Amino acid sequence: MPFTNFAVPEKYRYQNGFNSYHETEAVEGALPIATNSPQTPPYGLYAGKLSGTAFTAPRAENQQTWLYRILPASAHSNFEPREHQTFNTNPENKPWEKIYQIPNQLRWDPFDLDETVDWVHALHLIAGAGSPVTKSGVGYYIYAAGKDMDQNSAFYSADGDFLIVPQHGVLDIQTELGKLLVRPNEICVIPRGVRYRVTLPQGPVRGYICELYQGHFALPELGPIGSNCLANARDFQAPVAYFDEDTSTEWTLLSKFAGQLFAAKQNHTPFDVVAWHGLYYPYKYDLGRYNAIGSISYDHPDPSIYTVLTAPTDHAGTAVADFVIFPPRWLVAEETFRPPWYHRNTMSEFMGLIHGQYDAKTGGGFQPAGASLHNVMSAHGPDATTHEKASSVELKPQKVGEGSMAFMFESCLMVGVTEWGLSKCAKIQDGYNSESWVPLKPHFKIPAGKKRIANEVTADGGQADARQQPHYA
Ligand SMILES: [Fe+2]
Repeated sequence: MPFTNFAVPEKYRYQNGFNSYHETEAVEGALPIATNSPQTPPYGLYAGKLSGTAFTAPRAENQQTWLYRILPASAHSNFEPREHQTFNTNPENKPWEKIYQIPNQLRWDPFDLDETVDWVHALHLIAGAGSPVTKSGVGYYIYAAGKDMDQNSAFYSADGDFLIVPQHGVLDIQTELGKLLVRPNEICVIPRGVRYRVTLPQGPVRGYICELYQGHFALPELGPIGSNCLANARDFQAPVAYFDEDTSTEWTLLSKFAGQLFAAKQNHTPFDVVAWHGLYYPYKYDLGRYNAIGSISYDHPDPSIYTVLTAPTDHAGTAVADFVIFPPRWLVAEETFRPPWYHRNTMSEFMGLIHGQYDAKTGGGFQPAGASLHNVMSAHGPDATTHEKASSVELKPQKVGEGSMAFMFESCLMVGVTEWGLSKCAKIQDGYNSESWVPLKPHFKIPAGKKRIANEVTADGGQADARQQPHYA
């Protein structure tokens, strides 16, 4: 079935489409007709704009949303720094904690659940590159939480868009623009600046986040694939407007700003948007709906064939972050070593596993809730067990990844690892290399009767060995 049968049923209504101009109202007539900022918006609401791009960004990239709310977003006290010692997701600002750039292949055991913290304090920066201050690069987080955010609290990140990949547990996310229920095998994107509160209706949660400091996620180009397949635009779901009425209790507004936490107070709910229209909004997507494309003749295509979302740089085809999945799929390629080949990549590859077993790593070290990082030019590929199996297996059509969902954040940037990722989390596998690739055995043997072909030239510039011919000859 091309969608996920979720154990936890859907609670909310959505509007469908990726990068679609949506409009929604929770009270009939709350959206003004034609004018964005009427002299008096309907029903005594305040109009406000939320910009996801510069006002003057090209039309194809421009993302803005108009909000019609009970009180403006600016009605709050000054922000004060909060919890410097326990919350700081920008190690560049911490003299005692820095990012380590190392060429080793890294792999982590499953990260622990933590039932003592809420969403805001669940965020552990594990790796990243660049800086939210200059709006360049990415941050990767592991989150683990067991508590709802405080009843009267809301959070936003000024640093970037959160691409959230739940591995365990359900996120019930109330945003200014409406509510989303996000379950494992779904992903969601909360754009920079959108205020939200996370509750955990099914108990503890754990997962991965890619925070995009620059630009926004888009669907990849399809080239000769045509106008459908991979992630189809119609399967992305944005919330419909939903609002609370509360202008009398105290609320705490938490801001992640340059990786640090700030808090402000206000005496009204931030979730008071009665209607909105625009292109800048949170959304979710069921990975079970992904339409995977692969080889039906020979050879394993580049893993980019499994891209769900891409965040492009200014250089065409080069992403600051690609979100790639390895869903259940058929392998039918003939005369082919079917797992992904050994490679060194100019891009960095951070992988996680939501559930099941990843088909290119059957040795048991890459587990759900764990992770791996193959940095720029760090060589990797199938482990010895997988190589042996794949080299001798009968190549009949084969379903792989059944009950499994691995994913990758692939970036053109060299990704550094934080102190938390390298030591504090205590999940690094020391034996990754020695278990995966060191056991690989040489099989090369020059057959009897064949000789090495010389590569020298003769003194007069001629060819010493007549067999030294261009391959095509
Ligand atoms: Fe790779």
